[in-house]
Amino acid sequence: MSRVLLSLAILMSLSVFGSALAGDPTAAFEGQRIFVSHCQLCHGPDGKGAGPLAKNLGLAPSDLTQTIRSRSDTILRKIISGEGGQTITGRDRHNILTDAMPNWGEVFTDHQIDALIAYLRYLSTSKFELLGDPEQGARLYQKYCAVCHGEEGYGDGVMTQILEMEPLDHTNPVVMDRMTNDDMIAAILSGNGEYMPAWEGILNRDEVEALVSYIRLLTQ
Ligand code: HEC
Ligand code: HEC
Repeated sequence: MSRVLLSLAILMSLSVFGSALAGDPTAAFEGQRIFVSHCQLCHGPDGKGAGPLAKNLGLAPSDLTQTIRSRSDTILRKIISGEGGQTITGRDRHNILTDAMPNWGEVFTDHQIDALIAYLRYLSTSKFELLGDPEQGARLYQKYCAVCHGEEGYGDGVMTQILEMEPLDHTNPVVMDRMTNDDMIAAILSGNGEYMPAWEGILNRDEVEALVSYIRLLTQ
């Protein structure tokens, strides 16, 4: 690793991870936060390799949306931590990584690396782009939605004990994957049925997009 990259890695390792949120955020949610602060610099917001630092590197950062599919979790842990990243085995034996990718073994806990992997899997498999900031979405969700949908999105908020209703379970991928981002935005702004309120006038478009992005990560 060049000196510039090494000091970059050290600098980034000093950044503080955000404060805890109510509920237990999913691994993909936690991974998204780490990805934004530590990985998108090179790999780009969508993981395709066009981050702001990419043009300064001698070697193009990988398009993670393409490469991740053929990597097992074990191999990804090795690549990210730098413990044997240069020895990808199996199908990709010929594809040996250089040291252009920083080693993050000293920076992250095993738990954080697993969270990153969960988010990389989201990036490479989901057909839904994250339109807004999930972290903002998480705060809004706890404030406005958890009372019915539950702190963790299971549809079991306190209101379900006093009103007869079944809020959508936002953690159920089968149901959620049937709704496009536009469907979800429309449902949130206009409401649905007797108890899903219309949020138009209370939440603006950016806030609704942030909420939808947060909800997407609840299924991972
Ligand atoms: C300083 C730029 C830089 C940063 C920051 C960076 N990467 Fe990379 N990464 C690269 C480059 C360059 C490669 C390609 C290395 C090669 O092909 O030899 C790469 C390759 C990878 C690969 C291997 C792709 C494959 O399957 O073949 C993974 C996985 C990866 N990066 C994940 C991450 C994660 C997760 C983070 C954040 C914790 C991150 N990278 C941060 C530059 C970077
Ligand atoms: C007063 C209770 C309540 C609150 C507060 C609430 N919801 Fe709901 N929500 C429901 C119920 C009940 C349903 C199921 C509606 C149905 O299927 O008829 C639902 C359904 C949904 C759906 C699926 C809509 C569809 O067309 O099937 C989405 C998306 C959703 N809620 C998002 C949110 C978001 C985001 C918030 C916070 C801004 C929120 N909800 C706040 C009760 C609530």
